[in-house]
Amino acid sequence: MKRRVAILISGRGSNMAAIARACLDGSINAGVNVVISDRPGVPGLTTARDLGIETRIVPWQSARGRQAFERALGEALEALRPDVIALAGFMRILSAPFVERYAGRMLNIHPSLLPKYRGLHTHRCALAAADLEHGASVHFVTAELDAGPVVLQSRVAVLPQDTEADLSARVQATEHIIYPKVIGWLASGRLGWREGGVWLDGRPLETPMREDFRANVAT
Ligand code: GAR
Repeated sequence: MKRRVAILISGRGSNMAAIARACLDGSINAGVNVVISDRPGVPGLTTARDLGIETRIVPWQSARGRQAFERALGEALEALRPDVIALAGFMRILSAPFVERYAGRMLNIHPSLLPKYRGLHTHRCALAAADLEHGASVHFVTAELDAGPVVLQSRVAVLPQDTEADLSARVQATEHIIYPKVIGWLASGRLGWREGGVWLDGRPLETPMREDFRANVAT
């Protein structure tokens, strides 16, 4: 039976679309059952609907606080019984009890070579540090922000003339390759997080897998 994937977004949704397309074209044996946004009217919602995916808006209302938001988000997720929850440009920080409920089932993509540059403005940080390489990381979500075990990273070159936008575009192109791949592994049972460690194909994953895109400098 196809595994059920729920994707949480806050904006453009290009990673969501990459995951949904990989499900639709059969490259991964899973289906995206719902796309949930904390913001109404974002482009990712239109893209999801165009792909024939059900969408929900669970609005973030600062006056009501995180508990109320997480209650509503939890209800939406319970109703849809996802096997995998993918955070894809979802810009809300989730509480420890909420995250723990989905331990081992919730993944995130972060635009840096973690543990470098947690949080925001990762491309700016890589340029400011004159890094020669940069990338993205797919990791299991834990209570600590951007700190869960990393499964797969993409490595891209940083070029001398790069602007933040150039670097962001180059990294994003690789996100669209590595994120669907990891979701496919989790959905098919090849990947798991148990007994305190990440396992891939029956073996402990001691260090993150890495895919090298440094030769691809077109974007
Ligand atoms: C992606 O580049 C993702 O890595 C980043 O937001 C972008 C969302 O783009 N996520 C974070 O910064 C989370 N800390 P998308 O909406 O087009 O997928």
